[in-house]
Amino acid sequence: MSENNSGFNSYFGFLMAAIGSAIGFGNIWGFPYKMGTHGGFAFLICYLVLCVFVGFIIMFGELFLGRREQKGPVGTYMMVGKRNNKNFMFMGWLAMLSAVFLMGFYCTLGGYVFKYMIANLGSMFHASWGVNADAATYFTTFVTDQGQAVIWAILFVVVTALICIGGVSGGIENFCKIGMPLLFLILIIMIVKAALLPGSAAGFAFIFKPQWSALAGKSLITTLGSAGGQMFFSLSLGMGAMITYGSYLGKNNNLQKSSITIVFFDTLAAVMAACAVFPAVFAFGLEPAGGPGLLFVTMQNVFDSMGAVGPLFGFLFYLLTTIAGVSSSISLLEVATVSLQELTGKGELKDGWSRMKAILVSSAIILVLNVIVAADGLGGTGMPQPLGFCWLDFFDLFSEGLMMPFGALVMALIIGWITGKDAVLAEATLEGEKFPAINFYMFCTKIIAPIGMAFILLGQIDSFFSLGLFS
Ligand code: PHE
Repeated sequence: MSENNSGFNSYFGFLMAAIGSAIGFGNIWGFPYKMGTHGGFAFLICYLVLCVFVGFIIMFGELFLGRREQKGPVGTYMMVGKRNNKNFMFMGWLAMLSAVFLMGFYCTLGGYVFKYMIANLGSMFHASWGVNADAATYFTTFVTDQGQAVIWAILFVVVTALICIGGVSGGIENFCKIGMPLLFLILIIMIVKAALLPGSAAGFAFIFKPQWSALAGKSLITTLGSAGGQMFFSLSLGMGAMITYGSYLGKNNNLQKSSITIVFFDTLAAVMAACAVFPAVFAFGLEPAGGPGLLFVTMQNVFDSMGAVGPLFGFLFYLLTTIAGVSSSISLLEVATVSLQELTGKGELKDGWSRMKAILVSSAIILVLNVIVAADGLGGTGMPQPLGFCWLDFFDLFSEGLMMPFGALVMALIIGWITGKDAVLAEATLEGEKFPAINFYMFCTKIIAPIGMAFILLGQIDSFFSLGLFS
């Protein structure tokens, strides 16, 4: 391994990379809409409670495992198995496959964001270079133009691969050290702009006004399900991203503080995104929405309505979304890369494929999946649809829907019931740090987090297959 692949150069760099993995498309198009439609401030309370009892617990667990074993997901689970005379190899495979499936559509969405960033930049110079039709028509025309959508997706894969080729500190850390502060700066600019628009108050009311009915009776189940699904995905849990970054974390850094910091900034970014998006949507009398429709149609409508400054704010908004997307995708490619190196090297990085070979092979697989997803155009180009899902949702079902919540559930159980308190305490207090909440931690990782994740897994299945269990 060359020098620059062995870890982050600074603790700040680690934090920026981990926060960068957490802050992604989920924060920008998932959280704001869910918060607005599932009880406003009441949703936020559920979300925060879940962060404390489940999100923080699993975040800490992944960082702990990765740092203790100094390996990626495959090597880590191999070691944890060996230490306890068990075989947890399936967890390594699960992590790698989750990363590949998630990347299988994440880069297509990333390609869309690239396209919109450049189109808004183009509008600043010449109307015909930009989004030159009504936003909904422009979006449908673009995503169903297979050639274009595929090219932008490939570009996103290539950018991700190039950063990873730059190395952990040279590529990932450097990108995130600049990208994350810039992302927060742009968020602040967008919030100020949105707040100053006449009529924005209705947007703030949409996001924050507490609807306590969301916590009453059966609605509580729906609210918790939605908050939980959002929470674990947003924190990049259950597929080894934090194990991998944890393996690059210095032994002298505090695991508890790191976990709290990552959870805090991810949540802050999600709430800030809500404040940047919905006040502007309401100020222009548009309908609130979630998902790609919010990002590419509703928000583009917002910028089209802003007059001369529209393209500038459009460019800034899609730049911010690009940073969020790239800083997540590099963490996913890192998981796939390291896992592949370990799989080809009996759990040891140094015996397996070189970093370069592993990056190229995983990027090639990811590229093929994205060509399919991009060519499918969200199901709008007449391609055969697996199980009745569009290809994007199909890959999303396997990763976010099934494998990631299952992975997080099993990991919490492993730490709670197999690795045990002494090991957790030993790793977390290496430098004499205090861990006053160790008993609380163990109780949560044994019981609360697994129950929470089982519930979230059920919620994911329910929402993907529209079973109506939670409504
Ligand atoms: N947390 C990212 C988001 O919110 C998604 C992600 C999941 C990234 C898992 C890496 C690992 O979009």
